Amino acid sequence: MKSPVDIAVTGAAGQISYSLLFRLAAGDLLGPDQPIVLRLLEITPALDALNGVLMELNDCAYPLLHDVVVTDDPKTAFDHVDYAFLVGAKPRKQGMLRSDLLLQNAEIFQVQGKALNAAANRNVKVLVTGNPANTNALLAQRNAPDLAPSCFAAMSMLDHTRAISQLAAKCAVSIRDVSNVCVWGNHSCMQYPDLHHAKVKGIDALSLVGRDWFVDDFIPTVQHRGTEVIKARGASSAASAANAAIKHMSVWINGTDDGDWVSMAVPSDGSYGIAEGLVYSFPCRVVDGQYHIVESLEINAFSRERLRQNEAEVREEMLAIQHML
Ligand code: NAD
Ligand code: LMR
Repeated sequence: MKSPVDIAVTGAAGQISYSLLFRLAAGDLLGPDQPIVLRLLEITPALDALNGVLMELNDCAYPLLHDVVVTDDPKTAFDHVDYAFLVGAKPRKQGMLRSDLLLQNAEIFQVQGKALNAAANRNVKVLVTGNPANTNALLAQRNAPDLAPSCFAAMSMLDHTRAISQLAAKCAVSIRDVSNVCVWGNHSCMQYPDLHHAKVKGIDALSLVGRDWFVDDFIPTVQHRGTEVIKARGASSAASAANAAIKHMSVWINGTDDGDWVSMAVPSDGSYGIAEGLVYSFPCRVVDGQYHIVESLEINAFSRERLRQNEAEVREEMLAIQHML
């Protein structure tokens, strides 16, 4: 039997974690022969609820779940972890924008960045899901100066899978027939889901769906999907967010499919004119556990304007928390 791998999850008593933890323990991330230790972080008042989740995890008798650590101390949670899912943060309610959460959630990611810096393994993969995800990832990354910036990413995978799902439904094809979709920019209503490079059964997607559907239907549907879920459920997306978190981390570990890419919000290296260091969603390929922004895609004037608007929004968020970087 392999030695157990440590995985931290913050906000472990929350909605997303209620799906995420059980899938991790079932082997959905690291496979059927890799034991894991779950290191679960919550705020002190939520520890009772988290103990209830712990009872349920134990009741599942997962063969791969070697141990569970429950704590309200970030350094204990991140001690020697290889993977960290930073989920814990307030979700927005109906009528709010994700950026309304910025100042409420910022301190969480400042504290957790410092704790990751002190305690996590040096090659840790940190995925920030808590909103506003791009700027929270920037906060965590900049507060962890001893970890490489490439240890950090924010989650735009749910936007990516939403985009694939919409395109596959429009073309009445299987999800497997769709490739090279990408979502650029901020995980906000400004995000730019882009079909200029997408393929359906190897055919240029825009030639199949038409520009009107792309501009008037597809883009706003993907941009506002989170808002629509909140309206319908009375709470923000949870199981689909947990699924996206597992998919993001799984691609980060195992690599992208041949010829395809995924959307990941990562520290910009200046590609496509996006200011270096801003956490911004790009099409990324993953090789040997390292993500690489896909270079040299042709960007027309329509796309360029949307990339620029997203950069401006992420930059504005950064300015609001600059004193914490
Ligand atoms: P939730 O309110 O159900 O759970 C959040 C949990 O975090 C709570 O249990 C809370 O006690 C805990 N928490 C708060 N501060 C903490 C801290 N300092 N340390 C550890 N835990 C802490 O919320 P949820 O529905 O699970 O959503 C979590 C976050 O994920 C929200 O910010 C939400 O907006 C975001 N989200 C992002 C995406 C995405 O695609 N990036 C998708 C869905 C939700
Ligand atoms: C989502 O996209 O579903 C999440 O970011 C939650 C939200 O506030 O929309």
